[in-house]
This record gives sequence, C-alpha cells and structure tokens, in this order.
Amino acid sequence: MSLDRIISPNAATEDEERLQTALRPRTLDEFIGQDLQRRRLSIALEAARQRREPLDHLLLSGPPGLGKTTLAHIVANEMHGKLVTTSGPALERAYDLMGMLTRLDRGDVFFIDEIHRLPRVVEEYIYPAMEDFKVDFVIDKGPYAQAVPLPVQPFTLVGATTRKGLLSSPLRERFGLNFELDFYAVADLTLIVRRSAGLLGVHLDVEAAEEIAGRARGTPRIANRLLRRVRDFAQVYQIEHVGVELVREALELEGVDESGLDDLDRRYLKTLIGHYQGRPAGVAALAAAMQQEMDTLEDVVEPYLLYEGFLLRTSNGRQATPKAYAHLRLRLPGQPSAQQPLPLGDADQPTSTT
Ligand SMILES: Nc1ncnc2c1ncn2[C@@H]1O[C@H](COP(=O)(O)OP(=O)(O)O)[C@@H](O)[C@H]1O
Ligand SMILES: [Mg+2]
Repeated sequence: MSLDRIISPNAATEDEERLQTALRPRTLDEFIGQDLQRRRLSIALEAARQRREPLDHLLLSGPPGLGKTTLAHIVANEMHGKLVTTSGPALERAYDLMGMLTRLDRGDVFFIDEIHRLPRVVEEYIYPAMEDFKVDFVIDKGPYAQAVPLPVQPFTLVGATTRKGLLSSPLRERFGLNFELDFYAVADLTLIVRRSAGLLGVHLDVEAAEEIAGRARGTPRIANRLLRRVRDFAQVYQIEHVGVELVREALELEGVDESGLDDLDRRYLKTLIGHYQGRPAGVAALAAAMQQEMDTLEDVVEPYLLYEGFLLRTSNGRQATPKAYAHLRLRLPGQPSAQQPLPLGDADQPTSTT
C-alpha cells in the first residue's frame, strides 16, 4: 500500500520508529533548518524560563515528517518537564482527557498529535484547562448534574496537525504560539543527512549527502529513510565510502526519481493528466480512480506536488502544470506534434528520470 512506499512521510514499522527516534534531535540547537520558527521558539522558551512559567500553548502544523513530534519532545526537554503524549482520535471521551490533565505536574508538556481529529465534546473540556488551568468534572446527569472544577497544574499544550484548516477557530485561537512548518531547503536536508550518517556510522561524500537530500521531498523523515536504503545498498556491495553514483543507483532502484517523486506521485499526476485530459479534477474523483484514500492524497501526496509546482489547486479542482507534463515527458494538451496519445491514468511504466 501507499503508506509503505519509501517516500511515505509516515513512520511505518516499529523498527522504523525506533530508528527515527534514535536520529531525533533532543535540543533546539540540534534541530536543523526552519530558522524562523526555531528562533521564535528559542526566544519564547528563554522568556518562559526567566519568568519561571510554562511555555505558552503551542500549535505546530505542516505535512508529516517535518519535525512536529520532534519539537514537542524538544519543548519538554528544554522546559525540564515530562512529555505526556496522546492523539486526537485516542481521546474519545472527556473522561480520558481529564484523567491525563489532572495528573500533569507543573511545567509538563501535554502533546496532542493529530489534534484536528479531537472529538468536539472533548474539545470543550480543553478550553478551561488551557485558559484557567482547571477542568470541570461533571457529576450526575440530567437535572442533578453539577460541574465541579478540578485544578490542573500549569502546563503547556502542544498540538500537532497536518490540517490546520480543520481545527475549530476557538481551539486555534487558544494557542499563544502558532508555528507552521514548511518543507526543508535542500541545504538544510543535506545537513540533516550528514548528521544522521554520522550517527549511523555511514561514510558519505558531501555530494552523496546532497543527492539524498535532493530526493527527499523536503522532508527530514524521508531523508533519513533514503539514507538507510543507501546504507543497505553500500553494505551489501561492501562499499566503504558512499559516493553520488551509488546513491543514484540505490534510489533509482527504489523508484525515487531526481525530484524525489515516487510511483504514487507519478501515478497521481498521470491519472490527473490521462483521465481528465488536462482538465481540473476533484480529489475525490482522483482518489477513486487511483483506489487510494483521499486523506493520503491530501495529506501526503499533494502538499509536495503543490509546493514544487507540479500541481495547481484551482476553484474547479486539481490541475497538472506544464512542469508536471515536462517531468513525465508528456505533451501539453492542445499542442501540435507527436501523434502519441496521452497515456491512461493507470499507466505505471517507470518514467525516465534523466
Ligand atoms: N529539524 C530537524 N533536524 C534533524 N532531524 C529532523 C528534523 N526534523 C525532523 N527530523 C527527523 O525526522 C524524523 C521525523 O520527524 P517527526 O518529528 O516525527 O515529524 P512529524 O511529527 O512532523 O511527522 C525525526 O525522527 C527526526 O529524526
Ligand atoms: Mg509526528
């Protein structure tokens, strides 16, 4: 399935998760890139420490694999608190939330991943916790219902989301700090790859690191995963020092092209172009044609294609750009020449990447 694909920004297996954890920066100084957000966070942390107060509640948004969970850990570390982790879908009942909140110590970080999937009934209980550090415990039902306020120790709520737009505005407005993470520049990803290679004991040329970074879809998690594929390749062929040629060979084998697009990305663009002859299409129709989850397309595939200018979002739907046609070596609709028909969406022959 799509989520196993090598460029999937979602952590796949437990093993994978353990490795990503080992490579995870622990302090803000070790965190590479996102300079603006890092500086804002550094100042906010320093100020909170000086006032001996917990950090303001922090909302982190952006595509998967860009460092949201990493930052939540870093905040807890830097504030010398512990990190209590949960996720929106895991908090089914207000009761679950109350249990976790009332057990926090002063300065702890309460991390809610996928906070856009928090049920509305639970959300209501979070407001007083965020604003006044209390939760209303409701005893009894019906006419005898009584709300008993319970104190919560001053804490920091860190929320992470891949879909900030799905958050209700009352919830969004209760975060004092609001950081949007963007895809990483290749230069920053190169530093991340070199740092990870050092931790894994892989000897990489600078150009080899750059090559991995250039194919990592702007995403640190993918950069680390590609590095591991390269490491496997080098190990099997008993190559001590990894150069750029080896990286290319290893990653071609994985179906990742020089723009970092993989089979699913290319299939998305080919479906869009082939099924709709260049006309805009809705994401639901595309998901159906590709037999993929709509969420996967919206959260994982589209953000990078949009960012890199392969895709446009118009009021009528998604549309492939001339850059996408060029990348797939297809002619633009309405252009003369080449009698070659447009391929069907399910064409999945490997695309030449030279
Ligand atoms: N700024 C960074 N510098 C170095 N490594 C990073 C950075 N951001 C993320 N990573 C690496 O990428 C992996 C995925 O990051 P993570 O925080 O889990 O992403 P998210 O929660 O946004 O999906 C981490 O395990 C870490 O190794
Ligand atoms: Mg995460």
